Amino acid sequence: MLHTPESAAQPVRSIAEGDLVVVYEGYDNMKAVRVAANGNYNNKYGTFPHKDWLGRPYGSKAVAKKGGGWVLLLAPTPELWTAVLRHRTQILYVADISMVVARLELRPGAVVLESGTGSGSLTHSLARAVAPTGHVWTFEFHEQRAQMAAKEFEENGLGGLVTVTQRDIEEGGFPEEMHGRADGVFLDLPKPYKVVPSAARCIRADGMFCAFSPCIEQVHRTCEALNANGFRDIRTMEILVRQHEVSRQMLITDLDAPPAGPTKKQQRQAQSAAARAAKRQKIAGGEAAAAAAAEGPEAAPAGGSPEGTAGAGDSQQQEQGEQQGEQQRAAAQQAQQEQQAQQPVQQPQRQVVHKPVPFGRGHTGYLTFARRVAA
Ligand SMILES: C[S@@+](CC[C@H](N)C(=O)[O-])C[C@H]1O[C@@H](n2cnc3c(N)ncnc32)[C@H](O)[C@@H]1O
Repeated sequence: MLHTPESAAQPVRSIAEGDLVVVYEGYDNMKAVRVAANGNYNNKYGTFPHKDWLGRPYGSKAVAKKGGGWVLLLAPTPELWTAVLRHRTQILYVADISMVVARLELRPGAVVLESGTGSGSLTHSLARAVAPTGHVWTFEFHEQRAQMAAKEFEENGLGGLVTVTQRDIEEGGFPEEMHGRADGVFLDLPKPYKVVPSAARCIRADGMFCAFSPCIEQVHRTCEALNANGFRDIRTMEILVRQHEVSRQMLITDLDAPPAGPTKKQQRQAQSAAARAAKRQKIAGGEAAAAAAAEGPEAAPAGGSPEGTAGAGDSQQQEQGEQQGEQQRAAAQQAQQEQQAQQPVQQPQRQVVHKPVPFGRGHTGYLTFARRVAA
């Protein structure tokens, strides 16, 4: 989870038994897996025996036993941990976390106070930011959550950087021994404004405060408390992320040109559809004529000659006229097609395009930052 002097000297790390691996199936589908020599990872692409992963560098592509499906084997980081951890509470996500770490101005050696610990999502990033010589003191009033968080920090190699204490911070404030020692305080509590006086006593002059609140009413009360307790440069922000997908697509760029005519395949399909329709009409016409002949002249269809007065000569003339009309229409259509064929038409071109894709959350909450000024 953390870079140590040893890992910096040997940046390509190999996967060993007992290691935590983040198995990546897609940016929105990752899982935390503890490697066991006889373990298997199963998904819809197949079975991936853990023993095939041993000794391979993190960042490798693992292929399923059958079928050719693959996953990526990633080294755990605080960011990936946030994507795979078990939610015991609402958590902070990477967009808010990155702003918190940046605006609390955290650096190696810094001391941070946090409450509540919740699922420990933010705590992992706080710990990495202050490593190797800083410390995160995190306070949670829910006994089981505090215990589970402490266990996970230990398992993820953060035990020396994080201390979890069970305590009601809204009622009791931070412990007195923290007064004047904190470079930063972070609150994710229902009533952060109640803790502002205690935070003011703990943060050294020029240190930073941040509270995360889902509702704007909490923000108003927190800002009032900050103003009354020696904080300045008070700023509230909402962090929204828009992810874009970049891909190659066929696009028409010359919109002034007439649309391209049907393709040869489309023309063939239209011709055979027309032929089928004509055949159906002919059969239907033949059946109607046969029925009319069987029932006598009274049964002639509408539009025919009811008294049988139209002679053979008349019908021949009519047929000839229809044929001529048909030929003229066909000739005009062909001339139009030839004319169109000579004009430039819209030609799709391969282009690189991008579009926003739904990813991450919309509103999660407001971050309120403030700087402690010297009295
Ligand atoms: C939303 S969760 C914090 C999530 C955390 N920021 C994360 O990223 O995983 C809020 C936590 O505050 C704890 N909490 C609520 N009131 C508290 C209080 N008065 N003192 C200490 N912890 C409290 C809750 O038990 C809960 O675990």
